Amino acid sequence: MPQTLSVIKADVGGYVGHSAMHEDVMDAGREATARAVQSGLLIDAHVSSCGDDMFLIMSHDRGENDEAIHKLAWDAFVAGTEAAKKLSLYGAGQDLLVDAFSGNIRGAGPGSAELELEERPSEPIIVLMGDKTSAGAFNLPFYKMFADPFNTAGLVISESLHDGFAFEVHDVKEHRKIVFNSPEELYDLLVFIGSPSRFAIKRVIARQTGEVAAVSSTDKLSLIAGRYVGKDDPAAVIRCQGAFPAVGEVLEPFTHAWIVEGFMRGSHYGPLMPVSRVQATPARFDGPPRVVALGFQLAQGKLVGPRDMFDDVSFDNVRQEANRVADHLRKHGPFEPHRLPLDELEYTTMPAVAAKMSSRWEAIGS
Ligand code: F6R
Ligand code: MG
Ligand code: MG
Repeated sequence: MPQTLSVIKADVGGYVGHSAMHEDVMDAGREATARAVQSGLLIDAHVSSCGDDMFLIMSHDRGENDEAIHKLAWDAFVAGTEAAKKLSLYGAGQDLLVDAFSGNIRGAGPGSAELELEERPSEPIIVLMGDKTSAGAFNLPFYKMFADPFNTAGLVISESLHDGFAFEVHDVKEHRKIVFNSPEELYDLLVFIGSPSRFAIKRVIARQTGEVAAVSSTDKLSLIAGRYVGKDDPAAVIRCQGAFPAVGEVLEPFTHAWIVEGFMRGSHYGPLMPVSRVQATPARFDGPPRVVALGFQLAQGKLVGPRDMFDDVSFDNVRQEANRVADHLRKHGPFEPHRLPLDELEYTTMPAVAAKMSSRWEAIGS
């Protein structure tokens, strides 16, 4: 029977400010998922965090978009919100945008990445958890993993990867999707995914087998709410080895500090820093943006793990690079290209200031 991995995440309160999570909020998530394992709704679950976001990593056999699973996640976030309120944590319930759950978590605030699979005799999985960044932050790493032979040797020298991968890309503004085949449509693909604030890779499919190799959350909170309510801090699930990139090929893209949207007030470009869970506490200018990689082996749906994959000295150089890039960008203060362009800002005073100044503008004589 196929299994489903559902990673559903939300910020329901930060400790301190937006920098991390309190154990009481995590406990609320752990209790809710443990009860669901007990009742048989879930096969297994692991609750984790990156910065101020709680990630529920759940395995079950009910398929994607299952109402009972989404309701369980919603209830866990409501319980987390209650715990956050008791301690007066910051932004309690921040990502819960609707008053009541109505069948599906999508569009209600939390982000979700769900992947259905037939478990192989050995099934290594990587779950990526981001904070202080946005849906498109995984575009470049996904491109490297699944399309760049300089990153993924298997594309060239492994028969099982040699047919390449297909990319399902979502237009987060127009709410539409398209599939590109790699390698023959790579240049077309890049025209879109090179603009990650609008086009985000939702799914990657192995062309040889038709199996889903990876899925990411592409929910864009600011657009859902029509106003700023927090960044969309993405999640992703990636299958590894065999017909998929090896674990080391999945992690290799994170050896460079790619510049992503997010950072302070979700309104700045900053370097994406791969860190261990212990270091996933964005404190400097509410950043720099972080990504954590949790590794699991699935065993009949049980989540064996996690291993904290960036807790490894081989990522020390990129962390140093990220700090150097952050220093450089920070010096620009309120100037682009550190500050996002006007139409991408999550916070802006422009309409109010423009209105106040409107009578003072004079035409420039020719
Ligand atoms: C960015 C983020 C923080 C907040 C900032 C201001 O994703 O969460 O940088 O935007 O700390 O927060 P508020 O407006 O809640 O005071
Ligand atoms: Mg927050
Ligand atoms: Mg966050």
